[in-house]
Amino acid sequence: MQNDIHSIGDNAREEISKTSTLREVHDLKVKYLGKKGILTEKLKSLGSIPKQDRPAFGSTLNEIKTSLEHLLHQREETLKTSDLIDKLKTEQIDVTVPGCYMPFGRLHPVTQVLDEIIAIFTSLGFTVEEGPEVEHDFYNFEALNMPEDHPARDMQDTFYISHDVVLRTHTSSVQVRIMEKNDPPLRVIAPGKVYRCDADVSHIPMFHQLEGFMVDKHIRMSDLKGVLELFIHRVFGADTKVRLRPSFFPFTEPSAEIDISCVMCGGKGCNVCSGTGWIEILGAGMINPQVYEKAGYDPEIYTGFAFGMGIERIAMLKYSIDDVRLFPENDKRFLEQF
Ligand code: PHE
Repeated sequence: MQNDIHSIGDNAREEISKTSTLREVHDLKVKYLGKKGILTEKLKSLGSIPKQDRPAFGSTLNEIKTSLEHLLHQREETLKTSDLIDKLKTEQIDVTVPGCYMPFGRLHPVTQVLDEIIAIFTSLGFTVEEGPEVEHDFYNFEALNMPEDHPARDMQDTFYISHDVVLRTHTSSVQVRIMEKNDPPLRVIAPGKVYRCDADVSHIPMFHQLEGFMVDKHIRMSDLKGVLELFIHRVFGADTKVRLRPSFFPFTEPSAEIDISCVMCGGKGCNVCSGTGWIEILGAGMINPQVYEKAGYDPEIYTGFAFGMGIERIAMLKYSIDDVRLFPENDKRFLEQF
């Protein structure tokens, strides 16, 4: 009996010394010490040997078990270390290899200009509002003093969704929406996309506008002029000259077109300003009392101004871009310049 278990121990030691992988060590652990392992079975059979032999036999078995456990553990550690050394040898990292190129994204020039303009007006206390791009005829035309068949509707080539729903042709559609929900005083800007059925070097069917309006008691044309002059000086520089030219919009009275001294030639006259020295940049005026009536304001008490500008147009002047179609094209070579 004793001889028998001693030779089991010797065999196990021999096998352990020959292992070369962690897997093999694990298998030997199972073979000898697992639930149905050779040594485990021997321990289980202890009850079937003569009583007087049991203590000696039991303690030998335990000694062998402990020594095998110890050996297996040692073998495991040795193999783990040499595994690691092998790994370190084969998986060396070359820190001098150049890294991967990560292209930087950037904001679209229209977004950049829009952000700049919004920052100027919010610094003056204007709040930012938005309105829907698919709009009722009422807010886009009717409420702005352009009833059905009004000739001014022809100024804007409208995309119709249905008889009385359109893609908004201008951000002025936001005016009455805001006035319906709020009482004066109001200082609001409403940036967003607008749509017109038109396409050439200076027109694209979807572009961006920013509407601004201010309503309170005693608001005058000089307030409009002051706000716009400040805005223009911040965007185009303090030397830029500003001129108000009489114009017409059904929803403002009086109306004006705002010109600035040409950003290219400084007013001397060039291709960009067609030799006039002036460039038109936005439409504006005092809000027509008809609009207040639609919004439920008393035009005897309140006055105010409104203005609207094309963002692409401002961006084109600011960055000397001569074709508006470059904006929606999204050619990276164009966008990377901003
Ligand atoms: N909505 C006008 C346009 O798109 C611009 C404008 C806005 C004019 C507000 C006057 C007042 O041309």
